Amino acid sequence: MKNYFKHYFFISILLFLSCCTTQLPSIEKQHITFAQDKWKDVDEIKLQKGRTLFVSRCSSCHSLPLPSSQKETEWEKILDHMKHRAKIDKMEIDLILKYIFTIKAFEVMENK
Ligand code: HEC
Repeated sequence: MKNYFKHYFFISILLFLSCCTTQLPSIEKQHITFAQDKWKDVDEIKLQKGRTLFVSRCSSCHSLPLPSSQKETEWEKILDHMKHRAKIDKMEIDLILKYIFTIKAFEVMENK
């Protein structure tokens, strides 16, 4: 009986992970190329940091909003509005925005 619960627990965790990692894209080569073209000073580490900050600072009070859920200009306003709650500084806002804009650009392209 004990083992049964262990398996159940493990499978639930797997389901949880697979559901939520597919929703928010991770950084791939195409994203890095795109971002470097657009901003020059961006690299894989910075994009990854933007993603990590977004996930860790923006999901404690509500579910994590998807990059595709808002327009770029809206995102700028939202981050300005959320910055005190999320305890993020200007540089961190910048990293989060670059991650969001990069992911958004690909989502728009894919939907065409
Ligand atoms: C301390 C809690 C808290 C944290 C942390 C937080 N939020 Fe929010 N967020 C809220 C609350 C409360 C609302 C709804 C009321 C409002 O809009 O002020 C909200 C609303 C929103 C909305 C909907 C607003 C709209 O205009 O539709 C978005 C999008 C959002 N947050 C994004 C973020 C992002 C991105 C981060 C990370 C940088 C973040 N939030 C971090 C509390 C938080």
